Amino acid sequence: MDEKVCLITGATSGIGKATAMGLANMGASVVMVGRDQGRGEAALAEIKEGSANTSVDLMLADLSSQQEIRRLAGEFKEVYPRLDVLINNAGLFRSERITTADGLETTFAVNHLAHFLLTNLLLDGLEISAPSRIVNVSSGDHASGTIDFDDLQAEKGYKGAKAYSQSKLANVLFTYELAKRLEGTGVSANCLHPGAGIRTNFGSGVSGVFGVMVRAMGPLMKSPEKGAETSVYLASSPEVEGLSGGYFVKRAEARSSDVSHDERIARRLWEVSAELTNLPA
Ligand SMILES: NC(=O)c1ccc[n+]([C@@H]2O[C@H](COP(=O)([O-])OP(=O)(O)OC[C@H]3O[C@@H](n4cnc5c(N)ncnc54)[C@H](OP(=O)(O)O)[C@@H]3O)[C@@H](O)[C@H]2O)c1
Repeated sequence: MDEKVCLITGATSGIGKATAMGLANMGASVVMVGRDQGRGEAALAEIKEGSANTSVDLMLADLSSQQEIRRLAGEFKEVYPRLDVLINNAGLFRSERITTADGLETTFAVNHLAHFLLTNLLLDGLEISAPSRIVNVSSGDHASGTIDFDDLQAEKGYKGAKAYSQSKLANVLFTYELAKRLEGTGVSANCLHPGAGIRTNFGSGVSGVFGVMVRAMGPLMKSPEKGAETSVYLASSPEVEGLSGGYFVKRAEARSSDVSHDERIARRLWEVSAELTNLPA
């Protein structure tokens, strides 16, 4: 991975931080995106020291704000004209409905729209670096998700698990539609399930059934390094060079839910997402 520039969102903890370490260990030039300066600097120091790689950088942006995402993309492009691997990893679970500065429901905004916007803003750098790769971190929970176009922002009623599975299904639909749109560019787009029960900050501080479940699994959970394996594989392995539009589990292609293969839903989600992020459809 020498000379390859890799940007990873949600790199301050869990799977994202382990992915940053994995790629830094391979000699990549790693740009970690975090939202908190203190956590970001601590993670940056850890990756630099652990990998002995000095080409590791930190950029700050709260992905719940589209203004911050646009600023991040601008700052990134000023320093890095090329981008070989974009890993859209940041994600959250919210028990209660909270809206962002843009007035959007937070789970949908951070888990899906933020990465939709960031990817589109960074596409030119990926295209000039082709063959290059986009890796979207979804979840097996996408399988229980549906896209509720009549109430995407969950204004009529909010359930954390429903909002989360919808956002993770959106990650898969986005990947498939993106892969189609990128055909012939040399930029691939794949998504993955990192495995269930990875020991990260995910779900910490979450109340209700989900929080209880996450905490009860404690001793059985897998390491963040294990959770990062498929992300690192899709970002770096020659085995997947040129492969696009796939869903991967345990470093192997797998079948995602039937709904995720509905091309009309994928196209409609793209159009709505473009509208919500002020991008051309
Ligand atoms: N853990 C699992 O078992 C599991 C299973 C399936 C899928 N996943 C997926 O794996 C991905 C990584 O999750 P994880 O388990 O590693 O959880 P995590 O330890 O909580 O990491 C999530 C990362 O996302 C960042 N983030 C959250 N909200 C953000 C925002 N508004 N702006 C910028 N960054 C933000 C967090 O930043 P802070 O450090 O500032 O909070 C953190 O770096 C997620 O997409 C999740 O859906 C996880």
